[in-house]
Formats: sequence, structure tokens, C-alpha cells
Amino acid sequence: MPAAARGGARRGARGAARGAARGPARGAARGAAAAAAAAAGGGGPLRVAIAGPPASGKGTQCETIIDAFQLVHVSAGDLLRAEVAGNTPNGVRAKGFMDAGKLVPNEVVVDIVKDRLEGDDARSAGWLLDGYPRSKEQADAITEAGIVPETFMLLEVPDDVLIDRVVGRRMDPETGKIYHLTFNPPPTEEVAERCTQRSDDTEEKARTRLEVYHTNIDAILDSYDGIIHKIDGNRAREAVFADIDSHIKGLRS
Ligand code: AP5
Repeated sequence: MPAAARGGARRGARGAARGAARGPARGAARGAAAAAAAAAGGGGPLRVAIAGPPASGKGTQCETIIDAFQLVHVSAGDLLRAEVAGNTPNGVRAKGFMDAGKLVPNEVVVDIVKDRLEGDDARSAGWLLDGYPRSKEQADAITEAGIVPETFMLLEVPDDVLIDRVVGRRMDPETGKIYHLTFNPPPTEEVAERCTQRSDDTEEKARTRLEVYHTNIDAILDSYDGIIHKIDGNRAREAVFADIDSHIKGLRS
């Protein structure tokens, strides 16, 4: 499947902010996402979201999840890269932000993702939302449109492991498959030769992307309180998928 279709101190500050948020207001909000997810319907096509820091393995797991559950993969990053490749006005606007490892403005990304989630195929087959939302505002935008996942799976991987994964990542432009020079090398010399590296996959840009992630993740988790499923992503791909597989199957049992 092509990529476009598949699709220290800081921690202390985050902890403090999280603590400050634990008051009556947050208590009242607790479970709101669970209630919204229930109101949106627990049956019918699956609605699954996967999140995690850069290079935590979202795309790698999505390849397997869509095969196993026949879901439409809605990847914000892939949708944006397709806009950039097509040199569309949205792509031209997004490129500078992506190359810098920063979030693309909401006025560009929100409608692209919403339109894809509301497409006939995603509505009838179900969807796997990857890399969205990346801020509370983005979460609010889809919730207001009545788009609520049944589960918000979060891959957790230590920062130093993520940097190694970023710099070694390669993509096969013909199949959209993701490889790693050390952890998951391309299967043949021919595939290895045609693999490309993303322009934002340098250590410097990865650190910016990580910072953006750590700044926003707590507010996003608050938005999905009650439906969050944390997964240790610092294990073999197969072990990570086994957790995901049993969790998704459990949503319908
Ligand atoms: P996006 O494309 O979504 O990038 P990301 O979130 O930084 O995530 P990655 O694609 O880097 O990593 P991944 O978690 O998919 O890991 P992968 O499976 O490839 O976004 C790119 C940019 O677009 C953003 O920076 C932003 O500018 C913009 N953007 C996107 N969404 C946006 C939004 N909602 N709002 C605004 N802007 C947005 O794995 C990584 C490597 O590790 C691979 O080499 C893989 O082989 C290897 N690997 C995977 N799993 C394992 C494992 N278990 N063990 C060992 N190696 C593994």
C-alpha cells in the first residue's frame, strides 16, 4: 500500500503542569472522552487511534494493524507528505514546518484529516488514526465534528531509543514499507538501493519533534481520559503488535 494511503527539566515541568491540572475541573472532565466514545457508538466499524513520540513505531504497527483488521489508515504525516509531493497550496504551506520538525498549522491539517476520516471508505470499513491529534485544539476539532475514537493507544519509548530509530529509518518509495538500517534492514540489495530517508529524520530535527511531542502530549491525554491504552513500544515489533492485537480484539468482545 502506498505511503499516502496507509497514509530532564522538561519532564519535571510536564509533571508539574499535570499535577496542577488535577483539580475538580479535571475530575469533572475525567471520562468525558469515554462517554463521548460510547455516545458515538460502541458497535459498527472500528475507530482506533494510535499515538506516540516520533519514531515510536506508529507507522510500523499501522502496517500490520490495517492488514489484520482491514481498517483505513489515516496518517496525518502521510497525508501531509502527499500534499507536499503534489505541490498543492496546503503542501507548500506545510513543507517548511515539517522540515523544521514543527507542527503544521491547524488550518492546514485539521480539515485534511477530518475529510479523510469522513470519507465513505473510512466510514464503512472503520479507521486507524495515526499522528493526530497533536494538540488539544486538534482533539477538540474532531470531537466537535462527532469523530471520537473508541481507544487511544499510546506507544511509549525512551527518548534515546527514539533518536537511534529516527536516524536509521529508511522508506521504500515503491511499497511504502518502513525499514531500519540496524533493527529491520531492507530485505534485498535492490530494495536497499531505492530506499529514501525523510528530510526530517536528522538527530537535530528529531530533537525538535520530540520537544513538540512532550509539550503537547499531556493535554491530548486529558482529552482522551478514560479510553487511553498505554503500550510499551520498546520491545520487538511482534511483541508490541501482540498487545495491540489483543487490545483491539477486546474492544468488540
Ligand atoms: P509523522 O510522519 O506523523 O511523524 P512522527 O510522528 O514524527 O512519527 P514518525 O513517522 O517519525 O515515526 P513512527 O512512530 O511512525 O515510527 P516508525 O514506525 O516509522 O509527522 C511528520 C511531521 O508532519 C511532523 O513533524 C509535523 O511537522 C507534521 N505533522 C504530522 N501530523 C501532524 C498534525 N496532526 N498536526 C500538525 N503537524 C503534523 O518507526 C521508526 C523507525 O523505528 C523505523 O526505522 C522502524 O523500522 C523502527 N522501528 C519501529 N518499531 C520498532 C521496534 N519495535 N523495534 C526496533 N525498531 C523499530
